[in-house]
Amino acid sequence: MRTAAALDVRADFPILATRVHGKPLVYLDSAATSQKPRAVLEAMERYYVAENSNIHRGVHHLSEVATKHYESVRIAAARFLGAADAREIVFVRGTTEAVNLVMNTYGRVHVGAGDEVLITAMEHHSNIVPWQMLCGEKGARLRVAPIDDAGALILPEYEKLLTPRTKLVATGHVSNALGTINPVKRMIAAAHARGIPVLVDGAQAVPHLAVDVRDLDADFYCFSGHKVYGPTGIGVLYGRAALLEEMPPWQGGGDMILSVTFEKTTYNRIPHKFEAGTPDIAGVVGLGAALEYVSGIGLDRIAAHEDELLAYGTDLLTKIPGLRLIGTAPEKAGVLSFVLGGVHPHDIGTILDQQGIAIRTGHHCAQPVMERFGIPATARASLAAYSSREDLDLLAAGLRKVREVFGS
Ligand SMILES: Cc1ncc(COP(=O)(O)O)c(C=O)c1O
Repeated sequence: MRTAAALDVRADFPILATRVHGKPLVYLDSAATSQKPRAVLEAMERYYVAENSNIHRGVHHLSEVATKHYESVRIAAARFLGAADAREIVFVRGTTEAVNLVMNTYGRVHVGAGDEVLITAMEHHSNIVPWQMLCGEKGARLRVAPIDDAGALILPEYEKLLTPRTKLVATGHVSNALGTINPVKRMIAAAHARGIPVLVDGAQAVPHLAVDVRDLDADFYCFSGHKVYGPTGIGVLYGRAALLEEMPPWQGGGDMILSVTFEKTTYNRIPHKFEAGTPDIAGVVGLGAALEYVSGIGLDRIAAHEDELLAYGTDLLTKIPGLRLIGTAPEKAGVLSFVLGGVHPHDIGTILDQQGIAIRTGHHCAQPVMERFGIPATARASLAAYSSREDLDLLAAGLRKVREVFGS
């Protein structure tokens, strides 16, 4: 019997009944991708069974139904993020594509030779590499705000790096490698005081915290559907309307135009200007169901449940001899990253897998974070609404087995 947790939504997730190597699945890899509730799976099937059609173009019934559904998710996503206007919601493939869109549009226009883009030392590669590419192309400089030994941003150092040369700040809200929650509201206020816009990578925040882009005063905010119980291949870029209006489009093609001649194209209004071609309509439908699912439970309840588990898991893991947690910032969400004596994280992951326990091992697409801590990799257990104390008990037991095998 599973412990009666504050939140018990496991039955909503069919995959959690899977057995792996003959053992019940213990899924602790939700930061990589979350599992999907039946509500999402059914919404997508319903779409293909009863509504499938291309959007924005047809006058026929199915096209109108599909268009209405697609656009209703835009309104729901705006509400979910606290955006003022659904026109500020651009559907993209995920966080990676959102950052690349802003880099290729806002970035290309506003960043020039001698300018700077400021990120933090805990970014995911998807919020490093696009800016590096832009800086390389423009002769600009990528600056990096440092983090302390707990994995928390050093705010005064961040503020010192905001200079007249800084044209954009791009920061993660929650680190996927460390779990650190960044003080983004303060970071944005400090940047805005100097007239600098801020992009927030919310890939690891949106599943765990209630986000209000207007309260944060973010200029751009992005997330991936698949990390918040939705399907892969769909995500959201929020952009302040005034910024989106002035940005050039990125990809050209159908749907992003008002009129085309061989001499000249007039672009569509926002957000359609940024959605060239047939979008992932079924993905949007699935995302809509996921956001509805999360809102139905309440992010405050999810956050309270995960915080309780994080404290429980931290306590359990720190009792294991030789285990060192990587990422011990006071403000954390959803992630327990660690190393265990001299055992390589890949060996930890393999032994745990034999027991049906899924964790992630490696650099978590955040190699500079590993470098900061002087390690090549960590083992990472990450939480979601369906995680339980029993999952963490089984993880701790599995890690004791790893120690036995390696005699560490
Ligand atoms: C903090 C963070 N940013 C960005 C991404 C990239 O997300 P995606 O691969 O869905 O584009 C991830 C994915 O792990 C992430 O954890």
